[in-house]
Amino acid sequence: MKADYEAEHGVVSRPSTDERIVEADLFGEGEWTLDSGGNPKLEFERGVATYPLPQQTVYLTPKSELRFIYGHRKGAVIQLGEHVGSGGAPCYADLNELLGKHTAVLGSTGSGKSGAVSAIIHSLLERGSVAEYPEWKPQIIILDPHNEYGKAFKEHKRLSTDEGSLSLPYWLLNLDETIGLLIGKTEYAATSQSNIVKNALLSARTKAATDVLELDPTKLTVDAPIPYVLGDPTGLDEFGEISGTRYENGLVGAINAQRPTNKNKKDHEDYNKVLRKLDSLIKDQRLSFMMKPWDGTVDPMPNLLAQLLGGDRTVRVVDLSGVPDEVAGTASAVIARTLFSLKVWQTPAERELSPVLLVCEEAHRYVPNSGEAQYEAAQSAIRRIAKEGRKYGIGLLLVSQRPSEVESTVLSQCNSWIVLRVSNESDREHVRGVLPDSMSGLTKMLSGLRRREAIFVGQAAMLPSRIMIRDLQNEQLPKSNDIDFDRGWQNPGISEEQLKILSTRWRYQQR
Ligand SMILES: Nc1ncnc2c1ncn2[C@@H]1O[C@H](COP(=O)(O)OP(=O)(O)O)[C@@H](O)[C@H]1O
Ligand SMILES: [Mg+2]
Repeated sequence: MKADYEAEHGVVSRPSTDERIVEADLFGEGEWTLDSGGNPKLEFERGVATYPLPQQTVYLTPKSELRFIYGHRKGAVIQLGEHVGSGGAPCYADLNELLGKHTAVLGSTGSGKSGAVSAIIHSLLERGSVAEYPEWKPQIIILDPHNEYGKAFKEHKRLSTDEGSLSLPYWLLNLDETIGLLIGKTEYAATSQSNIVKNALLSARTKAATDVLELDPTKLTVDAPIPYVLGDPTGLDEFGEISGTRYENGLVGAINAQRPTNKNKKDHEDYNKVLRKLDSLIKDQRLSFMMKPWDGTVDPMPNLLAQLLGGDRTVRVVDLSGVPDEVAGTASAVIARTLFSLKVWQTPAERELSPVLLVCEEAHRYVPNSGEAQYEAAQSAIRRIAKEGRKYGIGLLLVSQRPSEVESTVLSQCNSWIVLRVSNESDREHVRGVLPDSMSGLTKMLSGLRRREAIFVGQAAMLPSRIMIRDLQNEQLPKSNDIDFDRGWQNPGISEEQLKILSTRWRYQQR
């Protein structure tokens, strides 16, 4: 109402007036033409070249004409949902823009992010039958920190540390990651220990390359993913000896080989620190997906790569919920880096055959704005995909409830955004900052969006629009993290027997 507007701007208005003021963002222009059949059609394009003048008449667009503006189901598109207030006009997203140039899904907890991600993936999976392709094999990898996505996809491949179906062996780690693992964060600066690890790693890798894989060691670096024997640090004394002889096997042996010949305990301390850490990693049940020793016979690499990109292409859900926090970063880093390296070493022709979508839930954990050393490796791996992934055929779908805590450089690499309700002011401010200028008007409505309702902007969107993400059936939705108190408290509670089992689980640190 004009009267309200004037009151807001401190103008005393005449109370009787019922004039209205419309604030409009101009986003495109269209021209009516005739199609080949002589029917009128609106040719609509984004961007404005001719601006309307004051006093010109404004018309509403009838629903029958909205389809000219919102686009048709043509080309490589998937349906995300419907345009709000359009009487059900479907909202399509350009598939190649959406995946190839990275997309961010942002919104507060409970706004429907996981639902939106599932909706996108279901639409991707259905695209094969919608377009009647004889073959349709999307390659999608979801990093799933809450173990929620398995439920949403009937046919998926579950990669989990709990069941041993996820294996990310220690030898895949490059030098930096190995150092990060073997030397505690606090001792990161300990150069002498870093050197010990570096030399040992090079020597252990060289040995396997020469003896087993028949590769030319002079062409390899310390970062090359060559499997190596770990050896066993159990029972070694402070000089790396067991019953008077120096232990020589694998990486442990390669560490021992660098020890001084003297028996001065102080000179041996750095070696022992590294070995003690290695020993505790090997004995940690939760880390068996990483520390399971290589037996030194067959090259495990092909099998390992197959688990991420094998022939049976399905949605792969990497359940990271059982991985302890201090290695979750390393685990995601290894996955992201392995994917990226695979793509880098493929020929352009090979890349065309197998583009991959990497879904990164809780992105603020992996690519935080303020560098947390724990996740440093994951951060640089995902940053690299964000910056260069599109060249190699890796698309990113970044999901976060704390947009302001996601590294800005990574977020700004996204070319499309699906922004659900954002209740926190600083997050809203941040979203406004990353979106293209012309869209900032849209961000005003972010706090008032309903569940599943989103602003969809960017290159994958025909137009910046307000949409309702498609409604999924219960079995297509991820597992809800919401615990129902009302239902829960109607139960008799936990028995002593169950508590006993629980304690064991806790003690073994195993579910
Ligand atoms: N596309 C959807 N279709 C149907 N229900 C949905 C959809 N998206 C969200 N929901 C409902 O909303 C709840 C919260 O959504 P969720 O995606 O888990 O939020 P977030 O991931 O943002 O915390 C879900 O448990 C589900 O019941
Ligand atoms: Mg969620």
